[in-house]
Amino acid sequence: MMTISAASTVLAVALAAVLCMKASSSSSNLTVPPGAVYIDPLMYNVVGANYTEWRNVSTVGFNPTNTAPPFIQVFDPSFLEVTGPSATIRAITSNPGFAFAHEAPIYVPDLNVVFFTSNDGGPLGYSGWYNNSVVSMINLTEVDMVLASTTGDANVPIQTLNLSDTVQMVNGGTGPYKGNLLFMTSGRALLPSSIVLVNPNPPYNTTVLLDNFLGRQFNSLNDVKILPGTDIMFFTDPTYGWLNDFRPEPMLPSQVYRFDPSTGQVRVVADQFVHPNGIAFTPDGATAFITDTGISGGFLGTNQTLPATIYQYDVDPLTQSFKNRRVFAYIDSGVPDGIQLDTIGNVYSGCGEGTHVWNAQGTLIGKFYLNSTTAQMIFTKSGLVILDEETIYLANIQAQGVDLITL
Ligand SMILES: *[C@@H]1O[C@H](CO)[C@@H](O)[C@H](O)[C@H]1NC(C)=O
Ligand SMILES: *[C@@H]1O[C@H](CO)[C@@H](O)[C@H](O)[C@H]1NC(C)=O
Ligand SMILES: *[C@@H]1O[C@H](CO)[C@@H](O)[C@H](O)[C@H]1NC(C)=O
Ligand SMILES: *[C@@H]1O[C@H](CO)[C@@H](O)[C@H](O)[C@H]1NC(C)=O
Ligand SMILES: *[C@@H]1O[C@H](CO)[C@@H](O)[C@H](O)[C@H]1NC(C)=O
Ligand SMILES: *[C@@H]1O[C@H](CO)[C@@H](O)[C@H](O)[C@H]1NC(C)=O
Ligand SMILES: *[C@@H]1O[C@H](CO)[C@@H](O)[C@H](O)[C@H]1NC(C)=O
Ligand SMILES: *[C@@H]1O[C@H](CO)[C@@H](O)[C@H](O)[C@H]1NC(C)=O
Ligand SMILES: *[C@@H]1O[C@H](CO)[C@@H](O)[C@H](O)[C@H]1NC(C)=O
Repeated sequence: MMTISAASTVLAVALAAVLCMKASSSSSNLTVPPGAVYIDPLMYNVVGANYTEWRNVSTVGFNPTNTAPPFIQVFDPSFLEVTGPSATIRAITSNPGFAFAHEAPIYVPDLNVVFFTSNDGGPLGYSGWYNNSVVSMINLTEVDMVLASTTGDANVPIQTLNLSDTVQMVNGGTGPYKGNLLFMTSGRALLPSSIVLVNPNPPYNTTVLLDNFLGRQFNSLNDVKILPGTDIMFFTDPTYGWLNDFRPEPMLPSQVYRFDPSTGQVRVVADQFVHPNGIAFTPDGATAFITDTGISGGFLGTNQTLPATIYQYDVDPLTQSFKNRRVFAYIDSGVPDGIQLDTIGNVYSGCGEGTHVWNAQGTLIGKFYLNSTTAQMIFTKSGLVILDEETIYLANIQAQGVDLITL
């Protein structure tokens, strides 16, 4: 929920002028895909007073080469294993003025379609206490056909779903889960937050699995993943419904929950967050990631001393509670919102100026730089689909996502 301020242009121009005087570094002859730039961290360790003065807010992006977005920033040669030799970023659909593509991306391979939701309660979402957000889908078969016929961007029509009234303010999702879309709804006004299954085919009928914690409504459920090898749901419950004026005052701590739909048991597996948000697991189910978007406080504003942090945990093999919390990464731009992993262990998160990528050790290796907030992304057969509020981008990268399908 942030936009990069105009200061970034001024900054980038000024910084590029300073930096162009520097000699090229040892890896400067690295061959990167067309449209990508190599940013050797050694070249930017010393930038002088003016730079840090301008980049004094997390909403100003880091674009030292002043390349026009969208483009790929390579911070480490290993990122080329992610991009492959010919990756590009192209818009596949857009609707300026409406944040129709915010979060909850679910790729259904059988249909070759990505489902997603509009912004709930945030800027340009046209949703709030009195108005629901909307779930739509984009057909990647059509996207592939249009992209093959042009070298530029595409604007493939999306289809909006007519869902049951029990689905209020979808914010997160994963799956397919036993053939269905699995959505987290934040709820709206006094209508509860919930976990719902939606049929990915017409008539898109819905089943609500959970809408309370032992009788108390959740605050505003945000995102969900299934622990690999199980059918158990793990989900986050920050207070953004209240902070974005579409839910009553929160009545539970901001926590991470575990829900077993076969027994109905719900319990807390992690707490001590400001705003727990995105969630992901390694494919072996041994490690969990939770993003904390604490810096972004809705009507309370931005507080840069609060977390913009991805935490990592061990998943206790016996209890499935999260233990041994440590910092995986702190984000330099905006907040780490949704989070996904690829099959080689890299971690992707939607941040203030695009999608950031770290290797399994937490080293920043690259960014898909859009100069605007991306809340979430999803791997598909065609590449990485990046939700950018008013636009959806496709990066035709080589890396593959971890399997999110629960049979
Ligand atoms: C980044 O976005 C801001 C608006 O959020 C705009 O003013 C600025 O020109 C953009 N920078 C570049 C390099 O496109
Ligand atoms: C440039 O590339 C070559 C091989 O492509 C490599 O051996 C060399 O270390 C690189 N760096 C410099 C500074 O030449
Ligand atoms: C910083 O900006 C000021 C004012 O534009 C300029 O006079 C000064 O030379 C700049 N300093 C550096 C190190 O670029
Ligand atoms: C950040 O820098 C800009 C440009 O120098 C200045 O206008 C603004 O007041 C600074 N903001 C903070 C929070 O220091
Ligand atoms: C309610 O949401 C719909 C669909 O997102 C939007 O077209 C409409 O403008 C919204 N109405 C208001 C009053 O915001
Ligand atoms: C996607 O588009 C293709 C090509 O037009 C079409 O054959 C297919 O039925 C569409 N899929 C869905 C789920 O609408
Ligand atoms: C949406 O579904 C509702 C109830 O299921 C129905 O009354 C309404 O006509 C549908 N609207 C559209 C545009 O299909
Ligand atoms: C949708 O309806 C069909 C037919 O009644 C049913 O088998 C299926 O379980 C329903 N799916 C959901 C997600 O409610
Ligand atoms: C920012 O957060 C810190 C830590 O919670 C708190 O001490 C401080 O008062 C906050 N600042 C503002 C301006 O709200």
